[in-house]
Amino acid sequence: MTASIIDGKAIAQELRARIKAEVASFRATGRAPGLAVVLVGSDPASAVYVRAKARQTVEAGMLSFEHSLPADVDQEALLRLIGLLNADPAVDGILVQLPLPSHIDATAVLSTVDPTKDVDGFHPVNAGRLATGDPAALEPCTPLGCVHLLKSVEADLSGAHSVVLGRSNIVGKPLAQMLLRENCTVTIAHSRTRDIAQICRTADIVIAATGRAAMVRGDWIKPGALVIDVGINRVATGDKSALVGDVAFEEARERAAAITPVPGGVGPMTIAYLLHNTLKAAGRRSGLPST
Ligand code: GUN
Repeated sequence: MTASIIDGKAIAQELRARIKAEVASFRATGRAPGLAVVLVGSDPASAVYVRAKARQTVEAGMLSFEHSLPADVDQEALLRLIGLLNADPAVDGILVQLPLPSHIDATAVLSTVDPTKDVDGFHPVNAGRLATGDPAALEPCTPLGCVHLLKSVEADLSGAHSVVLGRSNIVGKPLAQMLLRENCTVTIAHSRTRDIAQICRTADIVIAATGRAAMVRGDWIKPGALVIDVGINRVATGDKSALVGDVAFEEARERAAAITPVPGGVGPMTIAYLLHNTLKAAGRRSGLPST
C-alpha cells in the first residue's frame, strides 16, 4: 500500500480562511481580536515561528503585538510584562514562545498567563479543564491540529488504538486526552518504554512527537495505519541541512493508509489553531456565543 498524503498546508489554509471570515464578523463589535507573542532571546527557529505567527495573525484580520526580550532578561521583568498583557483589554491571547532560557522557570511563567488569554492552553487550569472534559478549556494548538488532520481522513476515530510517541506537556499529554475524547484506546509511549516498535505495530493510529529524526521506521507501522508526524528536526545532508520528521517517511508511506509530510503536515495546523484559539478567547471575553 502506498499512503495518501495528508495535506496539512491545504487543510490549514482552509481553516484560516474560515477564521478570517469569522474575524470579519467579530470586528463588527467595534474591535479586532489581539494576540500578543513574547519571544525571549534570539533562537533562530523560535524567531522564524514567531514571525510566521505574527504574519498570519495580521492576515486573518487580527492585531499582533510582538514583544522581544533579551536572552538574559530577568524573570521578574518577564512576569511584569505578562501582568501588563493580562490587564490590557486589547490583548485576547498571550503566547510565550518556548523554550525559555534555562534561568527562567517556565512553569512559573506559564502559570502567570491569565487562563482566559492562554491561547497555548499551557496554564494548569486549562490542562486540568482538558483532562476533566470541561469545555471552558483553551486547548493546545498542535494536538488540536493533529486530531483535525486525523478526522480529515477518518471522521470517526472511535475504538481506534492510538499510540502517541512522546509525553510532553505541549503535545503528547494533551493529545492523549483529546484522543480519549474521540473514544480512541490510547497508549502513550516514550523514551523509557520497552518494546516500543512492537507496541507501535499494534496501532491503528501512530502520532510521533519524540523530537528524534526518523526514529519511527517503516516496519513499526501496521499496514493501513494513519501516521501523523509532529517532528521537525533539522539534519545535516552533506554541506546543506534539511527538515525531517520523527518518522522515516519513505519507509512508512509504503505501509500506512495516510501520512503527514514534513514540512507541510502538522506545522501549518499549529498556527491555524493559534488563530482559532485567539478568536475563541476574544469571543468569550466579549461575551459572544461560544465557537
Ligand atoms: N514551542 C514549540 N511549540 C510551541 C507551541 O506550541 N507554543 C509555544 N508557545 N512555544 C512552542
